Amino acid sequence: MATILVNGVKREVQAPNDTPLLYVLKNDLELTGPQFGCGLAQCGACSVLLNGKEVRSCIIPLSAIGDKEVVTLEGLSARWAKQKGLSAEQAAKTLHPVQQAWIDEQTPQCGFCQNGMMIKAAELLEHTPSPTVAEIKDAFTSGVSPHLCRCGTYTAIIQAVQRASKAMTQRSVAV
Ligand code: FES
Ligand code: FES
Repeated sequence: MATILVNGVKREVQAPNDTPLLYVLKNDLELTGPQFGCGLAQCGACSVLLNGKEVRSCIIPLSAIGDKEVVTLEGLSARWAKQKGLSAEQAAKTLHPVQQAWIDEQTPQCGFCQNGMMIKAAELLEHTPSPTVAEIKDAFTSGVSPHLCRCGTYTAIIQAVQRASKAMTQRSVAV
């Protein structure tokens, strides 16, 4: 049994310590954002933020989480609201700009990989608010492995990251 912090809430889980975090999130906590793609840290479908860093939840055992904060796709909007100091009422009506950009650009095709794409985009924009196209490509292709999309939405992803970047930098002036 372990207690882990997921999307701002402490959750008790009964899974054995060597259970991959992805299984805990999907099976114990019934979160549907992270997806099982390869199970080998080779595709990015299962990505979550762990203390703000994108990690592959399919290979991280429950025992490695400790007191680090896990943020899944479901927690992105609350993370953004907290960063911007929005009221609870505003936060309830707010999507993370990455999520909004994905909708506005109609980025997904089948959608299976897009959890990891949005998690990666959120991580990138927290550290590099106005990335160049080269920096966007580098973010999605470096690290443990490239983020893979079998539907080939890569161009749309770059456009969505650019749209989110614009929204986030504009709002940071306005809020
Ligand atoms: S399912 Fe984790 S990287 Fe593919
Ligand atoms: S949208 Fe289908 S795998 Fe990426």
